[in-house]
Amino acid sequence: MSATSDGFQEALDATLPILQSMTKNLRVKPKATRTSLENLRISLPASFEKPTKTAEKTIKPSHPVTPVVSGKDDGRLAKLEILKKSILTCTRCPHLVTSRTQVVYGVGNPFAELLFVGEAPGEEEDLRGEPFIGKAGQLLTKIIGAMEYTRDDIFIANILKCRPDMPGGESGNRKPKPAEMSTCLPWLTQQIELIKPKVIVALGLTAVEGLLGEPCTMRDVRGKWLDYHGVPLMPTYHPAYLLRNQTLAEKRKVWEDMLLVLEKLGRAISTKQQGYFLEKA
Ligand code: URA
Repeated sequence: MSATSDGFQEALDATLPILQSMTKNLRVKPKATRTSLENLRISLPASFEKPTKTAEKTIKPSHPVTPVVSGKDDGRLAKLEILKKSILTCTRCPHLVTSRTQVVYGVGNPFAELLFVGEAPGEEEDLRGEPFIGKAGQLLTKIIGAMEYTRDDIFIANILKCRPDMPGGESGNRKPKPAEMSTCLPWLTQQIELIKPKVIVALGLTAVEGLLGEPCTMRDVRGKWLDYHGVPLMPTYHPAYLLRNQTLAEKRKVWEDMLLVLEKLGRAISTKQQGYFLEKA
């Protein structure tokens, strides 16, 4: 298959679940009008867009940054592809198989030194097949940018790879149940074993508890180094929490956790970065 038809197939694969979900969930069924196709084009991942001059522009960081790790393939790419196929076709939780649009595998660099772990896909993530793209995801992307990374440099995944079903098909999100998380965790553990991040950030208490397999409190764990199978683990607040509590003090707590992460990764930290979200005297 040529690169162009590969790209088309990828676009088709991404489009079909969206159409199926629209057919299932919307009162007005989709028609392939110019407008609906344009809406689909907008909702496709950026990698499907034709490269434009603007996309090629390089943005200069505010200070010299350490190059982001891109590794030599040690066989992980093929293993990750096999793993991805198994994850995308997982049927371990029959109730979630019925309710999900698709499994949300994760996104980012297979050689990432930094892994962010969230709770579970929400409605938009379930439709698009990519973690953290809703409002909380947009805030996470800003945090990643403030750390002088892009989403392509790091890896983002969730404890639970399917959107938790809602009673009676209600809208909104529910927390993953402990049994769902322990059923799904081996997938994430295998991703971690292959990607070999140097640091994991757990976003929110559910992610921490899902990884550790035991209850804890944010007060006890936030900002402290824990360990996940030999990988340093930093628990911090979920970006959705920050959206609900938009004080400088809460933002600064998360930022201080991220400064610890950058320090652990040996990344240069600018004076500007040191000063983010400090209360003005
Ligand atoms: N919240 C999460 O924890 N994960 C997502 O992918 C989106 C929102």
